[in-house]
Amino acid sequence: PLNALTDGLGRRITYLRLSVTDRCDMRCRYCMSEAMTFMPRAKILSLEEMETIADRFIARGVRKIRLTGGEPLVRRGLDRVARHIGGHIGTGLDELTLTTNGNRLDEMADTLFDAGVRRINVSIDSLNADRFRHITRWGNLDRVLRGVAAAKAAGLAIKINMVALKGLNEDEIEPMLRWCGDQGFGLTLIETMPLGQVEEDRTDRFLPLTEVRARLSERFTLKPIDFSTGGPARYSLVEELGVRLGLISPLTRNFCDGCNRVRLTASGKLYMCLGHDDRVDLKQALNEGGIDALDAAIDTALRLKPARHDFRIDTRGQSPAVERHMSVTGG
Ligand code: GTP
Ligand code: 5AD
Ligand code: SF4
Repeated sequence: PLNALTDGLGRRITYLRLSVTDRCDMRCRYCMSEAMTFMPRAKILSLEEMETIADRFIARGVRKIRLTGGEPLVRRGLDRVARHIGGHIGTGLDELTLTTNGNRLDEMADTLFDAGVRRINVSIDSLNADRFRHITRWGNLDRVLRGVAAAKAAGLAIKINMVALKGLNEDEIEPMLRWCGDQGFGLTLIETMPLGQVEEDRTDRFLPLTEVRARLSERFTLKPIDFSTGGPARYSLVEELGVRLGLISPLTRNFCDGCNRVRLTASGKLYMCLGHDDRVDLKQALNEGGIDALDAAIDTALRLKPARHDFRIDTRGQSPAVERHMSVTGG
């Protein structure tokens, strides 16, 4: 009989984040360095390996899978993997979702819907074209907005992810809320986390969401709501705008006690926590010992899951909490 996935602290793991590539067609300043290097293609999981591992997690109790990157839509064959995993919806899997920068949504939205995806998260840190270009270095806002419109037309529910950046986009939080209200989208704000070396000092850009919430509360009624996607956000309804606002506050309000997730990298390593380096090589286990070895490796990994991250806000002059960039594990 298959053991359900429970870590050493009794937390049930029901959410797998599957990074299908570490590559990205943008270079957001807080995420990557301009000269980012990527995993050699030979180390990347094949589509078959990805499907086998996803199937095993579903068989062992995972109810939600999120495709991530890098940018998931740059991975060739992603449509096939999405269709395969989507085939489990209703029989084991509750939800297949995706986090994207939106750059290729125009071409991919219908494919995703057909695969069974009903909801996506799109990262947009600014609605000002010049600023968007500055933050993403390579991004084109018009193109992303076309992608978002295509996703909406395809029937996908949309949540916008916005990393709150001091001095860069803090004045855009309210306009973004209003835009999301007009469009019928949710908005989730994210605190910048110290993962991997980038050119800017993240400490200088850190904007506590406790402060953002307090500021918004002076202008709007923020009613806490008992709603969960199984992710780390805490939600409120902005009553005047009818927008569901999520706050992801790893640094000002820790949520690790309720952690239900693990993440698989594009090269097949299972990371147990975003804020730690503990990992187990599932690709190697699968290739050397088949499904039994895969199961054993997953069990080993679960015992390694740390209680919580130990990110700190002030990392001035220090190396980041983990050397790995967010793009390796897809957040
Ligand atoms: P929903 O299903 O909509 O709740 O999505 P999500 O918030 O789980 O996923 P998404 O990919 O949109 O991630 C949004 C942000 O949350 C990213 O910056 C992630 O790195 C961050 N995040 C997701 N899971 C964790 C986690 O376990 N720990 C920490 N510290 N951050 C996380
Ligand atoms: N801290 C916080 N969020 C980050 N993201 C990428 N790098 C970081 C970081 N260092 C965000 C992206 C995307 C989500 C998956 O993670 O903007 O919305
Ligand atoms: Fe879970 Fe680690 Fe994220 Fe905390 S930081 S919620 S323990 S993955």
